[in-house]
Amino acid sequence: MSLNLTNLTDTLNRPMRDLRISVTDRCNFRCPYCMPAEIYGEAYEFLPRAEILTFEEIARLTRLFAGFGVTKARITGGEPLLRTDLPQLITQIAAIPDIADVTLTTNGYLLAQQAQQLKDAGLHRVTVSLDSVDDDIFKQMNGRGFGARRVLHAIQRAADVGLSPIKINAVVQRGANWNDGRAIVDLARHFQGTGHIVRFIEYMDVGNRNGWKLDEVVSADEIIARIDAEMPLEPIPGNYSGEVAERYRYQDGSGEIGVIASVTRPFCGACTRLRLSTDGQIFTCLFATRGTTLRDPIRAGATDDEMRALIARIWTRRADRYSEERAANTPDMRRPAKVEMYQIGG
Ligand code: GTP
Ligand code: 5AD
Ligand code: SF4
Ligand code: SF4
Repeated sequence: MSLNLTNLTDTLNRPMRDLRISVTDRCNFRCPYCMPAEIYGEAYEFLPRAEILTFEEIARLTRLFAGFGVTKARITGGEPLLRTDLPQLITQIAAIPDIADVTLTTNGYLLAQQAQQLKDAGLHRVTVSLDSVDDDIFKQMNGRGFGARRVLHAIQRAADVGLSPIKINAVVQRGANWNDGRAIVDLARHFQGTGHIVRFIEYMDVGNRNGWKLDEVVSADEIIARIDAEMPLEPIPGNYSGEVAERYRYQDGSGEIGVIASVTRPFCGACTRLRLSTDGQIFTCLFATRGTTLRDPIRAGATDDEMRALIARIWTRRADRYSEERAANTPDMRRPAKVEMYQIGG
């Protein structure tokens, strides 16, 4: 193909740089804002094995995406550590020369026992979701009554084996872990001075099943003001263009935190992300209503050139900017069915 694929841009002039790969739609947590237990009960049917991409299929697609300029691969779920033999996939992805950053987002529940193997397989770092260090709040927010201790231990283990810098993601939801902001300050304080970076995420209207309400969103400004009042902060520049988190450092030099203001300060303009679902569809936005299957053509025998042409067609037509539209109050908020977060890993 004569096209220069690495410079291929979408309709808003955005290149393709970050790939998020969901390796399972299952999860051992039932966070009400993602997989409410009332809906995802015993009888819920997750994807059958035959529909799930194999590691070889994922690796082949990742190599193709790398040809379009993707340099970062993030493994997600559901909960990715539920996928059997995950280190084998990490090995295959880490072996792709252009993929400079191989990372994984996990709820941490199974991380302690897998950390060393993941590191040995070539994983560079991890991001662990942890909404509170207060057991009562955390038990509510994971929907399974699990305490925070096991996740905290896993974070320590990950640090010990060198899966750093470690980031801790906390979704902030009024009425859950906000109330007066005390639990958020406690979470920040817990990791102050450890080198781990806590990032507070504005609660988003992903999917259709979490009953999202705007008044449950705590703005990044409110979060920063609350922490700054107890541990003075100052803003610092981003690490790279397209970074979703805004960074702040503690004025006393004890580390940094981030906020992901996807509701109040959307960042679609620099969104270079592409999401591959468990069943092999690509989604060009977290809020997409539909994806395009890459699994079916590869299983039907498509060549790499044919796959490249398909991917190029999807990317050059991409026009997604949902969060900006939401902020401008123009989106079709009653879209028929947005993809669910656990299907594409956030
Ligand atoms: P680093 O590589 O460490 O900078 O991490 P990251 O920010 O790319 O990845 P991470 O998965 O930790 O992202 C944090 C959270 O930000 C996600 O879980 C989502 O909640 C949110 N987020 C990430 N990407 C997008 C996006 O494209 N759109 C929106 N609206 N939110 C996003
Ligand atoms: N809003 C914001 N973040 C969310 N996450 C899951 N659902 C939501 C939501 N509705 C976060 C998880 C995890 C990451 C994958 O996405 O807590 O950190
Ligand atoms: Fe599982 Fe993460 Fe969704 Fe919670 S947010 S239910 S840990 S996939
Ligand atoms: Fe990218 Fe869609 Fe998120 Fe905007 S809303 S940053 S286009 S994934």
